[in-house]
Amino acid sequence: MNEKNKCILSCREVFKSFGKKSNRLQVLNGVFFELREGDSVAITGASGSGKSTLLHILGGLDVPDSGEVWFDNENFSHLTDTKRGHVRNYGMGFVYQFHHLLHEFTALENVAMPLIIRRTNTHEALQKARNMLGRVGLVDRQSHVPSELSGGERQRVALARALVTNPKCLLADEPTGNLDQQTAEEVLEVLFELQKTMNLGMIIVTHDNSLSSRLGKTYKLMKGVLS
Ligand SMILES: Nc1ncnc2c1ncn2[C@@H]1O[C@H](COP(=O)(O)OP(=O)(O)O)[C@@H](O)[C@H]1O
Ligand SMILES: [Mg+2]
Repeated sequence: MNEKNKCILSCREVFKSFGKKSNRLQVLNGVFFELREGDSVAITGASGSGKSTLLHILGGLDVPDSGEVWFDNENFSHLTDTKRGHVRNYGMGFVYQFHHLLHEFTALENVAMPLIIRRTNTHEALQKARNMLGRVGLVDRQSHVPSELSGGERQRVALARALVTNPKCLLADEPTGNLDQQTAEEVLEVLFELQKTMNLGMIIVTHDNSLSSRLGKTYKLMKGVLS
């Protein structure tokens, strides 16, 4: 961790529960977290411990019951849903265990999608998408649809889509959880290379100890707190 780098994403005393009364499940119990520019952090913990919940809250996809989330000097709870969506679309990239690519679109179109949604002109969006596909080693597969790609290739397309907007940070929820070891390694090599060259802040939720050991810091989520 480099304390001199700017803090880009943080939370303070985040509580989150699901359900009501006797069904109430307290998932997060006062979480503090900080991610600085260019840092990489692993979040580990048992299944059901609340890792995805925390990642959703940090990414502005869900709101805490109480506590604060800050991204790039903006307090999420002071923003409208629309503004929070805007901050998220411009500042963050997301990758999940499953690629969630649109099956009727080509790799190139999938990668260009976040830019097109932002109303970037089509020519520029496709150019940036092609460039990003090149950076994940898939420029020669640009006109293939997801069903014509292997699992690792799809996940590299998903990575290119997450990063085509040049975000400050990447939030990844078990990004290699669905891949065999060798394929996972190929995806991770691309990911680490991009992290370095783009100076990305990165949070990876993972069960894989060999992955977490390669990140700057590892936290464990247990009983609703990080340690
Ligand atoms: N929307 C929801 N409604 C009710 N319970 C939920 C919801 N989302 C998550 N949970 C529960 O919260 C706990 C933590 O879930 P999750 O954050 O997905 O854990 P993890 O990612 O660590 O496996 C689980 O018991 C899960 O069933
Ligand atoms: Mg999860």
